[in-house]
Amino acid sequence: MPGIVIVGVQWGDEGKGKATDLLGDRTDWVVKFNGGNNAGHTVVIGDEKYALHLLPSGILSPGVNAVIGNGVVVDLEVLFAEIEALNSRGIDTSRLRVSANAHIITHYHRTLDKVTERFLGKRMIGTTGRGIGPTYADKINRVGIRVQDLFDEKILRQKVEGALEQKNHLLLKVYNRRAITCDEVVDELLAYTDRLRPLVADTSLLLNDALDAGDVVVFEGGQATMLDIDHGTYPFVTSSSATAGGASTGSGVGPNRLDRIVGIVKAYTTRVGSGPFPTELHDEQGEWLRKRGFEFGTTTGRARRVGWYDAPITRYATRINGITDLVLTKLDILTGLDEIPVCVAYDVDGERFDEVPVNQTDFHHSVPVYELLPGWQEDISGVRVFEDLPQAAQDYVLALEAMSGTRVSVIGVGPARDGVIVRHDLV
Ligand code: IMP
Repeated sequence: MPGIVIVGVQWGDEGKGKATDLLGDRTDWVVKFNGGNNAGHTVVIGDEKYALHLLPSGILSPGVNAVIGNGVVVDLEVLFAEIEALNSRGIDTSRLRVSANAHIITHYHRTLDKVTERFLGKRMIGTTGRGIGPTYADKINRVGIRVQDLFDEKILRQKVEGALEQKNHLLLKVYNRRAITCDEVVDELLAYTDRLRPLVADTSLLLNDALDAGDVVVFEGGQATMLDIDHGTYPFVTSSSATAGGASTGSGVGPNRLDRIVGIVKAYTTRVGSGPFPTELHDEQGEWLRKRGFEFGTTTGRARRVGWYDAPITRYATRINGITDLVLTKLDILTGLDEIPVCVAYDVDGERFDEVPVNQTDFHHSVPVYELLPGWQEDISGVRVFEDLPQAAQDYVLALEAMSGTRVSVIGVGPARDGVIVRHDLV
C-alpha cells in the first residue's frame, strides 16, 4: 500500500499536518503537490510547536525524504527562511528535494496578489496575499518562471522581461503602482541559486523509483476540497488542484499508484477568506467554538469563520477524491455541549438538497437542515480506544461515518502528537 494521498475535506486547516505526522514512522517520502506558502501546518512534538507554511510537515520526521513537487509554487525567500529556522532548532533538512519544474513566486506576483484583491473591493477572494493566484495564472498563461530557469541566467532574464512587459502596464496604468525592473527581480532570484542547486531534482523520477522499490510515499495536499480550483466554491478558491487528482499531476506519479486516499475532516467546520459557508455561526456559539478550537490562521493570523459539521460536504469530498479513510480531527473541542447540530441537507428556497448543489447560486442560498445529536461532558483528550469514549461521542462519530459514505479510521482527541484514537491503520 505504498502511495497514500492526504487531502482536506472542507476549506482547509483540518489538521493534515498531524495526520502526516501520525504516518511518520512508516513514511519514507512526503510530497507536497500543490499550493505554496499559503498553507499552514502546526505540528506539536513534545513541548515544541512548529508552524510550517511551505515545507511539507514530514520534514520533521527524521529519515523521511521531503519533496516539493512540480505542482507547487515556491517563494524562495520563504523556502530558505523555513529551512534555516528548522536547522537552528536542530532539525535536519538535507533530505529535501525540489522539482526543477515547480514555478517560482516572484516579487511581482506578491504585489499583484495584493493590488488585485484591493481592486476587487467587496468581491475580494480574501487571499493570503502570498502571490499564489498570479503565479498559477502565469503558469497557465505560459509566462511563468520555473526553478530550472534560475540556472540559465540568459533564459531567466528573457522570461522575466517578457512577464514584466505585461505586468508593468497593469501596475502602472491600472493599479497606479510603480513599475518593477527586470534587474531587481533577477538579482533577487539569482541570490538563491547556489543554495537551491543541491536541492533541485527530477522529483517525478525519484518518486517513481521510490514506489518501484516499495517505499511508502505520502502525498500531502495543501488547502482542501472546497478550495480546489475545479471542485471548490469557485471563485472563492485557491488556484491549484487541492484534490486527490492533483497528487498525480502535481508530482508526476500515475493515478494508478495512489493506493489510499485519506480525507482529513474537522468535527466542525472552518473557513478563511470569502465565499459561501452554509453552517457558519455568527453568534456566541461561534465565538465559543473559535476560542475553544483556537481557530486563528497559522499563515495570516486571521480569525477563521466557524460553523457546525456539514455532512453533504464530506460526502461530496468522498466522491470527488475517492476517499478511502477519514481522519476526524478535534473531536475534543465539542466536549461540553448538550446537543450538537449536524447539517444533513440544505434547504434552498423551500427545495431540499441532500447533496452539495452544483449551482453556485443555490449553494450561496443554502440554509442548513440540522439534526441534533446528543453531546457529552467528559474530558476525552486522554482516550486512546474508541470504545472508551462516552457513548454520545461514539454515536457522534458513527453518525458522521454513516453520512459520509466512507469509514472514519482515525479520531483526533487532543493537540499532542499521540492525541488520537486509531480504529484502522492508515498504512
Ligand atoms: P490564496 O490561496 O492565497 O490565493 O487564497 C485563496 C483562498 O484560499 C482564500 O480564501 C484563502 O483564505 C484560502 N486558503 C489558502 N490557503 C489556505 C489554507 O492553508 N487554509 C485555509 N484556507 C486557505
